[in-house]
Amino acid sequence: MRSMYGITFLTIILLSAVSTAAGQEAGRYPVIPRPAVLTPMAGNFAVTAGTQVVWDRRQAALHHIVTALVADISKRTGFSPGGGKSAGNTIRFVRDASLPNTAGYRLDISPASVVVRFATDTGAYYAAQTLRQLMPLHPQKGKPLLLPAVKIEDQPRFAYRGVLLDVARRYFPVSFIKKYIDAMAFYKINTLHLHLNDDQGWRMESRSYPRLHETGAWRKETVVGHRTDRPERFDGTPHGGYYTQAELKELVQYAGERFIAIIPEIDVPGHSQAILAAYPQFGCIDSAYTVSTRWGVHKDILCPKEETFAFLRSIMAEVSDIFPGKYIHIGGDEVPKDRWKQSAFCQELIRKLSLKDEHELQSYFIRRMEDIAHAAGKQIIGWDEILEGGLAPNATVMSWRGEKGGIAAARQHHYTIMTPVQYTYINLYQTSDRKSEPLSNGGFLPLNKIYGYDPVPRELAPADAQYILGTQACLWTEYVTNEADAEFMTFPRLCAFAETAWSETGRKNYPYFLVRLKENVQHLKDMGMRVAPFFPEGE
Ligand code: ACM
Repeated sequence: MRSMYGITFLTIILLSAVSTAAGQEAGRYPVIPRPAVLTPMAGNFAVTAGTQVVWDRRQAALHHIVTALVADISKRTGFSPGGGKSAGNTIRFVRDASLPNTAGYRLDISPASVVVRFATDTGAYYAAQTLRQLMPLHPQKGKPLLLPAVKIEDQPRFAYRGVLLDVARRYFPVSFIKKYIDAMAFYKINTLHLHLNDDQGWRMESRSYPRLHETGAWRKETVVGHRTDRPERFDGTPHGGYYTQAELKELVQYAGERFIAIIPEIDVPGHSQAILAAYPQFGCIDSAYTVSTRWGVHKDILCPKEETFAFLRSIMAEVSDIFPGKYIHIGGDEVPKDRWKQSAFCQELIRKLSLKDEHELQSYFIRRMEDIAHAAGKQIIGWDEILEGGLAPNATVMSWRGEKGGIAAARQHHYTIMTPVQYTYINLYQTSDRKSEPLSNGGFLPLNKIYGYDPVPRELAPADAQYILGTQACLWTEYVTNEADAEFMTFPRLCAFAETAWSETGRKNYPYFLVRLKENVQHLKDMGMRVAPFFPEGE
């Protein structure tokens, strides 16, 4: 393919830069994200049916982690380790509270034994993922499985390592979200941000306001092609769906077993046309609102009336019951102020509250959301627009319009998650030749760019930089029309992202990463993922 020439040329340059020893290390230990310390050792540990696996079976989470690992070994080899009785040839899981990081782990693989040390179940889980990546993917059936000897001391650079999945623009079934979670967990991602509503759909069953899922979950049809194409064409096919509360609770549990927290996003006061289609009384104007069939920023937003806040309090209660985590994301992005400017109610409210303008009214709205969230025992996260008109007191900011918002928030000592479009939006194109890719919104985020991103902006002083909680890759799905394309947009870029989120800058090296990626592409394919071929050595 013509588009591959550039990449092939780049491959030659990159691979010639892989020094032999380091290249061999990457080949022998294809772990993504790259561990903090990895000391190669000679020889292998042979896992056989006689290998004894030792752990404290009374600890339920650990039991789950170890049995899942043993099941993976069985799947690859055709035998199940655990039959051994002697002290020799053992894989031993040892809790060790002295480890410096609660999510960290130590791995000591010698020809005689494997010892896994961890302070918490999270650390044990991450050690198990590293072991899965160290094992040959397709060993000869019935033959010992050889684990390369090594010493690893590992821990994450950032506490927050997230992925956003936009299920509002596109409904994805629970089975797909589980598959996605499995792959995220394999790369030590610990947060799934579910974007649950937008102008084009509402996805959570609501017991207090059922028209949200009865009406708001369905759009009549969807615009075809790019949103700027003229004339506009529509597919004439209804699209939608919603998750029952039981399904969402099941997802929370499924993700939790893989040490992933789900953060729900209820995006307000903008991106709310599906809410208004269900409950028009929460808008500022009398209108026959419909669930939107087009992409882009919409002018119909929620009105800051008391009845709107009563509604949001009720939704918050339902969300809090389903999602037990600390955070709820309240959106706050892209809020055109047209309706608030037209509204006599909003203008009167601005006067009454002595606010300067509609930006301060937006800030008022977000503060009210924060009060509602606090009353439900939650902290809020909002997109960086929530800085405009003044931040709510304890809000965490997601910096998406570049890094500026994140820098400003961190300097105000607000926790910040870096999600700048140009480095973390995996709905952008992956190559400069767009013809070989599915239609996208636009932009260009190749693998090396997401790999090279440093979530801590250089201009931040260390005292402020500590407010950078981490980073998140975002898969918006206006143009992602099916599961295979969602996978194609996600992989292999999520592998690069995982290393950005976990590994210290000094441990990152793109040519070595590409060597490790090769094996991981096979892992992903074994998981049934469609992996984009846009990486050196990819075809
Ligand atoms: C966003 O991309 N509107 C957060």
